[in-house]
Amino acid sequence: MRRIGVVGCGLMGSGIAEICARAELDVIVVEADEAGVSIGRRQIENSLGRAVAAGKMSGTQRAVAFDRITFETDIGALHDRDLVIEAVSEDEDLKVHVFKQVDKVIEHEKVLLASNTSSIPIMKLAMATRRPEKVVGLHFFNPAPVLPLVELVTSLLTSPETAAKAERFATTTLRKRIVRSKDRAGFVVNALLIPYLLSAIRMLESGFATAEDIDAGMVDGCAHPMGPLALTDLIGLDTTKAVAESLYEEFKEALYAPPPLLSRMVEAGLLGRKTGRGFYEYPNR
Ligand code: CAA
Repeated sequence: MRRIGVVGCGLMGSGIAEICARAELDVIVVEADEAGVSIGRRQIENSLGRAVAAGKMSGTQRAVAFDRITFETDIGALHDRDLVIEAVSEDEDLKVHVFKQVDKVIEHEKVLLASNTSSIPIMKLAMATRRPEKVVGLHFFNPAPVLPLVELVTSLLTSPETAAKAERFATTTLRKRIVRSKDRAGFVVNALLIPYLLSAIRMLESGFATAEDIDAGMVDGCAHPMGPLALTDLIGLDTTKAVAESLYEEFKEALYAPPPLLSRMVEAGLLGRKTGRGFYEYPNR
């Protein structure tokens, strides 16, 4: 699979497009409009710039990788792809809509359709297409160019051949490590991570400890690279809430229910790093 399509060029889509280009694949990224294209393009340029500054690639390699990415606003541009990875925001209706559209423009029956969803069962997306056996979850972690893991999620209808191809793509082509998950909301990582993040938010909300102390407790006491509130800011409060809602809808367990503070912050547009303010402020985002 050498011709890759990525739908959505936000935090995750831009990282996925970047790692595909760095793996010498031909990448077409589709965004909803020109404003989305220019934000996505800038994110990829910045991340490639950080990779050069960190000595992970040369300036020439950066230019070659960037040239492998084409930006489009017409989903029809994906018609000749071997694999399309959907990475739009964590909204079930939107993702179902994207899967329907991609399914229409892709004619070749061999093409694989993957979702980077963090939490929505793959079956719900697969059933929006005429090829549920070709639909699989490939869930990357933020920042995708840095974190080595991909969750491989197969639905009841994903064919073994699709699963094997997706696994080869993630491990051999992208050089990621995979963990396999059944098709349950949240898969492995978010089913564990989200209750932890929500607990930290409840702890802050109840006045139990300050944000700085909650985070320092986990960084210095448990050697996590970031504390839970800083991590929620990195993931995005809107995404965290959306993932929590998918988990709550699936399992109806209180530990997955978004706390009121998270809901109020999302309503206020305090979404974390991407908007310059979440639990912390990011003046130079
Ligand atoms: N390309 C390649 N390498 C890069 C890079 C880039 N764009 N940007 C940074 N790096 C490299 C750096 O060179 C460095 O490498 P070395 O260790 O070899 O020196 C490494 O990545 C770390 O980068 P920095 O030193 O710049 O930054 P840091 O040490 O402060 O780490 C972090 C930043 C990687 C974000 C780290 O804090 C971290 O891992 N945090 C936790 C992130 C996490 O948990 N993410 C998962 C979120 S959950 C999710 O995504 C799923 C979901 O569905 C919600």
